[in-house]
Amino acid sequence: MFAAETYVRRRRRLTEQVGAGLIVFPGNGSSPMNYKDNPYEFRQDSSFLYFFGMDAPGLAGLIDVEGAREMIFGDDVTIDDVIWMGPQRSVAEGAAEVGVAETMPLSRLAEVLGTGLRRGRQIHYLPQYRPENVLWLQDLLSISAPQVRAGASPELIRAVVAQRSVKSAAEVEEIESALDICHAMQMEAMKAIRPGAYEREIVGLIEGLVIGRGSQVAFPTIFTVHGETLHNHDHGNVMQGGDIVINDSGAESQLHYAGDITRTIPVSGQFSDRQKDVYKIVVDAQRAAFDAVRPGVLFRDVHLLACEVLAGGLKDLGVMKGDIKEAVAAGAHALFFQCGLGHMLGLDVHDMESLGEDYVGYTEAVVRSGQFGLRSLRLGRELKPGFVITVEPGLYFIPQLIDQWKAEKRLAEFINYEVVDRFRDFGGVRIEDDVLVTQKDCRILGRPIPRTVEAVEAAYGEK
Ligand code: GLY
Ligand code: MN
Repeated sequence: MFAAETYVRRRRRLTEQVGAGLIVFPGNGSSPMNYKDNPYEFRQDSSFLYFFGMDAPGLAGLIDVEGAREMIFGDDVTIDDVIWMGPQRSVAEGAAEVGVAETMPLSRLAEVLGTGLRRGRQIHYLPQYRPENVLWLQDLLSISAPQVRAGASPELIRAVVAQRSVKSAAEVEEIESALDICHAMQMEAMKAIRPGAYEREIVGLIEGLVIGRGSQVAFPTIFTVHGETLHNHDHGNVMQGGDIVINDSGAESQLHYAGDITRTIPVSGQFSDRQKDVYKIVVDAQRAAFDAVRPGVLFRDVHLLACEVLAGGLKDLGVMKGDIKEAVAAGAHALFFQCGLGHMLGLDVHDMESLGEDYVGYTEAVVRSGQFGLRSLRLGRELKPGFVITVEPGLYFIPQLIDQWKAEKRLAEFINYEVVDRFRDFGGVRIEDDVLVTQKDCRILGRPIPRTVEAVEAAYGEK
């Protein structure tokens, strides 16, 4: 936990920004795998963690803006709970550590909110991504589930996004401690990958490192020889010499900040010439993006610059043709790069996206495109010092998409479909790092992890 003052300051700023009403943060509950006493690993809601810090199920935070009161609602354990769970800290003790003096049993929350509603006070809450918290708000506010969904507070969303987007030095330190684990996960994978092994064997090793460090994964591990499927969570393939494997994996720090790193590794330890050609294009695109990330720049422009490098490289290989700027403007590169260059990173791996991607990544002036490819860019807006973002270009050869575009002769002025066919079985390459936007440019966070062809091959060789 950070010092109490951190949470006090965050809540004070939030209170000033929202201006009026009651602000309620339902924490997450314990989520059963099948029966109540057999839960999934607990993960607190990130906004609750950010403002109220307490990392336990069954809590809610409340700020009464005009009344200048802050409360945490939760129930102390009974002797029956102690028998099964051991002694636990009281709610009041936990609340004191985050600078909240007033606590009440959970059952009182309905009463406090009911009184507020009768007095015509506005109740602010964030969009809910867990069905049980939608149900909880239904009960607390006596409204239907669609009304809960429609009633999330835009003022609160904007205020939370404004604060959580800019990371303090202490938050960056947390992200870097998550990246220490990511470093170990990537190095272990480079050591352990071998022809004939199942993908899941390596997943077991790298996720074991996470558990061994008292952490948890920040998202389901993507580890696959079919990297052309962007979020491929299957680990059932046997890796063969000649394959390349994408390792997109991440862990959380002790305070639940995420790291998110991808490397693409040749299963035999050596890239083929064709793999090198494609891989180097992605390295170049990432380098160009690092050089372009700085305050005041639209991340959409960094994305488009990376797309131009990718398309230029594909033109050199004969896969694309024509004027590169025109090709990217038309979206032709999206046959091979269907997603965005990156996303915000923080307490969530895709930071704050449950609050609404457009609140996080766009503004009234910078509006999300509807074009295939560009529409999947989660972050388009101007970068500011303190933002932490991922930079993750890739090239993905998806046979079904190639077939569809080819049949339609889509953007054929920019794509040599007969050459593309030679890459149908290529798979995918992605390289991802996490960067902090500084006052003048950016800093790649974490210990360096081999990235170039030569460095990845050498790391593989260090068995
Ligand atoms: N690392 C998974 C993602 O960025 O979507
Ligand atoms: Mn990512």
